[in-house]
Order: sequence, then C-alpha cells, then structure tokens
Amino acid sequence: MNNQPQPNLPQAVPQAVPLGTPVANKPQPTAGQIPKTPAGAPSSPPPPPELEQMGEKVTLKRSFENFWKSPADSGPSLFQGSTKVPDFYGQGMASVLDLIAPAGFKIEPNYIQFGNIYTRTLFVFTYPRYVQTNWLSRIINYDITLDISMFIYPIGTHQVMGDLRKKAGQLESSLAIEREKGMVRNPELETAVEDIESLRDVLQRGEERLFQFALYFTIYSTSINELNTITEQLESTLGGMLIYTKQSLLQMEQGFNSTLPLGIDELKILRNLDTGCLSTTFPFTSSTLSTNEGILYGLNRHNNSLILFDRFNLENANSVVFAKAGSGKSYAIKLEALRSLMLGTDIIVIDPESEYQALCEAVGGNFMRLSLDSDKRMNPFDLPTPGEGTISGASGESILRSNVTMIHGLLSLMMGGLTPAEDAILEKAIFEAYALKDITADAQSHKNQPPLLKDLQSVLQNMTGAETMVSKLSKYTEGTFKGLFDQPTNFDLGTGFTVFSVRDLEDTLRPIGMYLILNYIWQKVRFKMKRRILIVDEAWWMMQHEDSARFLYSMAKRARKYYLGLTIISQDVEDFLASKYGRTVVNNSSMQILLKQSPAAIEKVAQIFNLTEGEKFLLLECDVGEGLFFAGLNHVAIKVVASYTEDQLITTDPRELLARQAEKAQQENPSTENQGQ
Ligand SMILES: Nc1ncnc2c1ncn2[C@@H]1O[C@H](COP(=O)(O)OP(=O)(O)OP(=O)(O)O)[C@@H](O)[C@H]1O
Ligand SMILES: [Mg+2]
Repeated sequence: MNNQPQPNLPQAVPQAVPLGTPVANKPQPTAGQIPKTPAGAPSSPPPPPELEQMGEKVTLKRSFENFWKSPADSGPSLFQGSTKVPDFYGQGMASVLDLIAPAGFKIEPNYIQFGNIYTRTLFVFTYPRYVQTNWLSRIINYDITLDISMFIYPIGTHQVMGDLRKKAGQLESSLAIEREKGMVRNPELETAVEDIESLRDVLQRGEERLFQFALYFTIYSTSINELNTITEQLESTLGGMLIYTKQSLLQMEQGFNSTLPLGIDELKILRNLDTGCLSTTFPFTSSTLSTNEGILYGLNRHNNSLILFDRFNLENANSVVFAKAGSGKSYAIKLEALRSLMLGTDIIVIDPESEYQALCEAVGGNFMRLSLDSDKRMNPFDLPTPGEGTISGASGESILRSNVTMIHGLLSLMMGGLTPAEDAILEKAIFEAYALKDITADAQSHKNQPPLLKDLQSVLQNMTGAETMVSKLSKYTEGTFKGLFDQPTNFDLGTGFTVFSVRDLEDTLRPIGMYLILNYIWQKVRFKMKRRILIVDEAWWMMQHEDSARFLYSMAKRARKYYLGLTIISQDVEDFLASKYGRTVVNNSSMQILLKQSPAAIEKVAQIFNLTEGEKFLLLECDVGEGLFFAGLNHVAIKVVASYTEDQLITTDPRELLARQAEKAQQENPSTENQGQ
C-alpha cells in the first residue's frame, strides 16, 4: 500500500469533477464581489454585437460543446489572453454536474463525507484456501447501500511459469535441507510445494489461467455510527468466510474512486487467483433462474434472461401467489398449468369462478361443475380401485378405514354436528353399508359397486338412536338437495386437466361440496402416485371455513411425499394469514410469486417475505403480469409473457371474451350478418 499524502480540498475538486466545468478552474467570486474579468478580455462585460446577433440558439450550442471539453481544452481560449469573449451565458446555465455533484466533500483518514452521506472503502487482503461458490451473493443480498468493484488483470502464463519454477526450486531445496538435517516433516512447506506443483500442471496444460484480482467495497451511510456498525457487520460476515478486509486508511479518496463505475483502480491491492477461484467470486447465481429442465415462467427483468425452472426440483413443489385483484395471478398460473401439462404433469384445479373452463375445454380436460342442476355426480362412498401404480403398503383395511372417516366427517357437516352417541352409531352404520355391498377390509372386494347415501339411510333406519340422523339425511336423499350426493359417480378424474367448479353451488352446500371434492382429490393423489399440480384459486375463501383451511394446511405439509405441487392463489395476504393454517401453507411453499401489491398491503407482505426497500418499490410500481419470483433462496423480478395462442386460451379480459363469443357466434351462423344488411 502506498501512503501518499492526501491532496487538500481545493486540489481534489478538479480531480473529482473531471468533466469540463470551467467554473472549477477559475477563482470563484466571493459574495458581494463583482467578478473580475480575466486579463486580455475587454474590461467591461457588455455583450459584443456579434454575440447578440448570433442569438440564443448559437450560444446554447457552444455551451454544450464546451460541456464535453475538459477545463484544459476550454480554459485558455476563454480566459487566458484569448481575444474571444467569455461565455457568460453558458457559465450561468445549470448543467447536469451542478445537479448531481455534492456541495462539497471532506476526506478523513477513515471515511469521506459528501454532504450528509458518509462513505468508507474496504479492500480484501487475504482469501482462504477454499471458498464456496457464490460467496459474494451474501454480501450483495445484504440490505445496505454498497458499491462493489472487482478488477481482474490476466497474467501471461509464460511469465508466471518462470516465477513458479524458481519458487518451486526454492521450496524443494528447503524441504531437502530440512530432511537432511533429520528434522520432523513440515506440513506447511509440503502443502506449498503441492500447491505450486498442481498449479504448474494446470497452467502448463492450459486448463487454468492466472489472474490478479482486486476486490473493494464502498459502504454508504447517513451517520458515522451507522457507518461503523455496517463496517463491523461487513467485516464479520466476510471474516466468517475467512476473507479478511481492511479499511483503505489514508486512501479513502482513491478507494472511493476505485469503486465508481469508471474502471479506474487507484488502490491496486491485488491477489493472485486462478480461473477456478476467480469464478467463485461471480455473484450472478441469485439473479438467473435458467435451468435445463422445467417450463418457462417468464422473463427475468434484471437481465432479460428466461426463467426456466422445474418446481419439483425444490424441497417441496408448493407455491403461493399473492397480488391485488386483476394483477395477473390466475393468468400466470394458467400459463404454468398449460405448459406443465405439455410435459406430462396432471393438473387439478379448484375454480370458484369457472374461469378455467375455456382452457380446460381447449386441452380436452374434464370440467366438473358441482351444482344441483349439473349432470356430474360424485358418490362419497367411492373407493380407490386397487391396481397399477397404487402405493404399496396401503392395505385394503387402511383404505376402507380412511374412507369411512372421510364419510363420517362429511355427514357430520351435512347434518350440522352430531352427539357422541350418534357418532358411534354412524361409524358402525357406514361399515355396515359397505358390508351390504360385500365390501370389506379385503382390497379385492373394493372393486364391487359402492353403496349410496340411501343405502346408509336404510341401515340407519334399522338402528335405534338414529332417528334424528335419518330425518336429517332425508333432505339429501329425498328433499331439496336430492341428487347431489346420493348418485353413483358418473365421471373419472382420469389424467390430464381436471377442473372442479363450485361457482354454481348453493352457498349452504359449498363447505360440503368442497369437503367432498378435496377428499376425492386427496384419495386420488394418495393412492396413485403421479406428478400433479393442484391449483386452488381464490383460496382466501377456503381459509374462512375451518375444514377446508385445515385440509389445505395438511396438504401443504404432505404433498411432497405424493409428488404433488400445491398452488395457492389469493388476493389478500392479510386475510389469508389471519387463519393460523395460512401461515403454515406459506412457510411450506418453496416457490412464491408476488405480483402488484396495494400500498395498504405492502408492509405486511414485506414483513412476511423479508422484502428489501427496492423490492417493495418494485411491487408497488409494476404492471399487470410483473412482480417477484422466489424459488428457494433465489429472488428475481419476473415478467409473465404468453404467446398469442396461449393468451387466447387463458385471458379473463371481459372485452376479449365478448369479442371472441361474437366471433364464434358469427362463424356458427354466418348468414345473420348478411341478413341484417
Ligand atoms: N402477463 C400478462 N400479459 C398480458 N395480459 C395479462 C397478463 N397477466 C394478466 N393479464 C390480463 O390482466 C387481466 C387480469 O388478469 P387475471 O385474471 O389473471 O388477474 P387476477 O390477479 O387473477 O385477478 P383476480 O384476483 O380478480 O382473479 C386479464 O384480462 C388478463 O388477460
Ligand atoms: Mg384470478
């Protein structure tokens, strides 16, 4: 390190402000003084006639020309014995530099003060033998204002080889001398010889090259105390990785200049690194998410690279999407579903708004509309059929028992709660209803036709103490709700795309319908292992019912084991997390997508997802389909993009939908328009 004396302030100004401001080079008038005219210029400053004639345009042009010249270029012609008239007009104009430059700065041995900002530069002086790849990202993701600069100087291999050879010779002879003297072995010397030899090998073979590397950090703060705290934090974070730093004492200005984006290294504190070590310093792994597998989620707004990613490669494949209404949540997830489907992933959607119908029909999926007037029926007594792909270890008894528990819960919901005595009777009755159809703990018997709700009702009719239950059940077998839960199942979940729409389900029946659907899905997922994604759109309303909230919670925890990725979409983070189950769902989701947020919700979102100020700002400012994408520890800014055909399938824009309907109607009946004319 060279300890040059620090230039004092007046000398430092022209260095720090290199672009041509003539003001910096000439004596400044003090307050109240009339500016003295430089020697050789006319003594009084009336504008010469030709300048007046030239008009404002020409003067302006000249002042901009001068802007790009250094003071040395423009100075003499204007002020030193020149016959030209000084450009008073240009001097009086504010330039970009006037706007961005600090009013003044003070250089201290261990910091610089720019107005109200304090900066300090640190340099790395030693590296450990081993470092982790991407070690610098810990510093980059640190929530402080920091400039980092790296200087990499390649060294010619020829030149190094000569030096290394000499060094190897010295070390080898030291080793030989020690051995001759009969001293115990010296591991330090042996390691040095091994290192040099392996380096010589790789350099000679051209596998690696050698570089000199300089790494500087300049930290910014609004107070000295904070600056000291940040310095300590930075030093200890780096020190924890055995990377040691020092402050560039008495060279703060050189340090600061070296971290400006000018490519000037004024500190020149260099360390030798080979290609492998150098590559660990590149902190780019956090901002690219391009892998060789998976699907396209969108464009990375940091660097326009593609976000290609397979969610099944994370610890769990669950994801949550939070954003305000109309910000493109459903759009992004439909796109993901469509693209995942092409790669053989089954998609199951719980859709409270019938938004997924067009997409489902376009890909030939099953659209299951649950409502009293729908022709699709689901029998709660269905059992998963034993067969290929069934999880081994699930015995016939456990399958039957879990279904009985599920029906028990469902009936308790349908009848609005049960007494303990009724509870016991009901369980017995369900087993009996199965037994009537010859279905027992033997897995082979599960192929038989399952019972229906009215079979259970007739079993209950013959039991004492079940009278109230029978009368309550009659509402579902004979009364208003007849038909919905008491018919054999007439569809198959099958494979591909399946949508359960509950939009048209009566409000009182919604919790029951949801319970049935969720259990049906869970049965399928558990007993036949397949790569699947379950999408729950508008999940906030499921969080309002204890049963469905608990279901989502347990599914988020267990989905991974059944090769299932759960996607939860919700408008309101606060609503969602108000439920104790909501937080567990978020904690168990490795992938998170945050799109545009409302100012009211941003603080809560920032707190839950540990967002930086910059990320908060991004979420408030972004457009439809833009936001943040979190995959494990990686954060990137995303822009969701769809092709024209995809957009046609997934848009929910009412104008586009109406236009499409009109177009379709016309294609079906082309004569209407002609007749109208
Ligand atoms: N990435 C995108 N590119 C182009 N258009 C988009 C994009 N994302 C969303 N849109 C359009 O923005 C509108 C709203 O999108 P979307 O239905 O996905 O919003 P949402 O967040 O699900 O809203 P809600 O919470 O009300 O369901 C739609 O008309 C959709 O076509
Ligand atoms: Mg939506």
